[in-house]
Amino acid sequence: MSYFRKNVEDAEGYTPGEQPTDPTVVKLNTNENPYPPSPRVMEAIARITPEQLRRYPHPLANAFRDQAGAVFGVKRDMIICGNGMDDILNMTVRAFSGPEAALVYPAPTYTLYAVLGSIQASLVKEVPWGPDYSLPLESLVAARGRVTYLANPNAPTGTLVPYDEVARLAGRLDGVLCIDEAYVDFSDRDCMGLARTQPNVLVMRTLSKGYSLAGLRFGFAVGDANLIAGLMKVKDSYNADAIAVAAATAAIADREYYQQTRRKVIVERERLARALTDLGLPPLPSQSNFLFARCTRPTAVELYESLKARQILVRYFNSPGIADRLRITVGTPGQNDALLAALKELVR
Ligand SMILES: Cc1ncc(COP(=O)(O)O)c(C=O)c1O
Repeated sequence: MSYFRKNVEDAEGYTPGEQPTDPTVVKLNTNENPYPPSPRVMEAIARITPEQLRRYPHPLANAFRDQAGAVFGVKRDMIICGNGMDDILNMTVRAFSGPEAALVYPAPTYTLYAVLGSIQASLVKEVPWGPDYSLPLESLVAARGRVTYLANPNAPTGTLVPYDEVARLAGRLDGVLCIDEAYVDFSDRDCMGLARTQPNVLVMRTLSKGYSLAGLRFGFAVGDANLIAGLMKVKDSYNADAIAVAAATAAIADREYYQQTRRKVIVERERLARALTDLGLPPLPSQSNFLFARCTRPTAVELYESLKARQILVRYFNSPGIADRLRITVGTPGQNDALLAALKELVR
């Protein structure tokens, strides 16, 4: 006998990437930014007062909403904040999907969508990507999702669907389109324009990647004020804490630091992509801060194990269609050199 609802009992749960405690491990497995957060973030945290901790935080994180609104050209009522984007994803799954309300996404993608859908007992429909991870537009429309998730750039592939195609999808769907832009800080183009103009589009962002704040836990979504107002009913009352709101507000305001960091990551991504190709481990074209490299001999799992034995962590997914690849986070030049030196010996 189980105490749990059947679909919780049956759910597999999300498997996070390994988080080693040894600081000497070259950690290229969970797509963190290799650079520290903006100095303004540390200053904002240092300014936190005991009074701010004694009291509850602002329930809607208005300080952040106003700052982000100025950056993205939207009003405060078009922004909702959360404890990481995962919190926002959770709100949308609960708000829009259920046993008769389909949750749809192109697969393979971020596995949390399926995990949250199974806990909610939602009707989950996976649609395979088109050739070369192109948008399967007609199949997505035919799946009739009450909510459709599109990770763009996608994880774990790093590939990007062009803006015009996403716009066409948004126009064809009856339900909500949630565009998960966790990695868009490293892309040429984003879809924020659709969140400003389309009544059924939510653009979701995180400060974990582009702003080097994975440990802080802060994410937000932008969309039509009606969508945002509905989601406010679903969220936990105080889902962004006082320290996180202060730090995230400082981070989003420091545009210069953000641009510098993103440029450094992009330059390294291109160098690493060329080097991996030269080693016979060609990655997919990436618009993110990671590369999805194809491995033949040794196999992906063998390389993963051998790298791990050398204190270098990358991500291997033992899943159909992607088990021949490794997902490698773009690190600092030094970390990438360490990886490349190890791979050079291993693929010889
Ligand atoms: C595609 C995608 N969406 C969302 C998230 C979650 O971001 P957060 O750290 O803000 O919860 C991740 C984290 O790795 C991700 O890969």
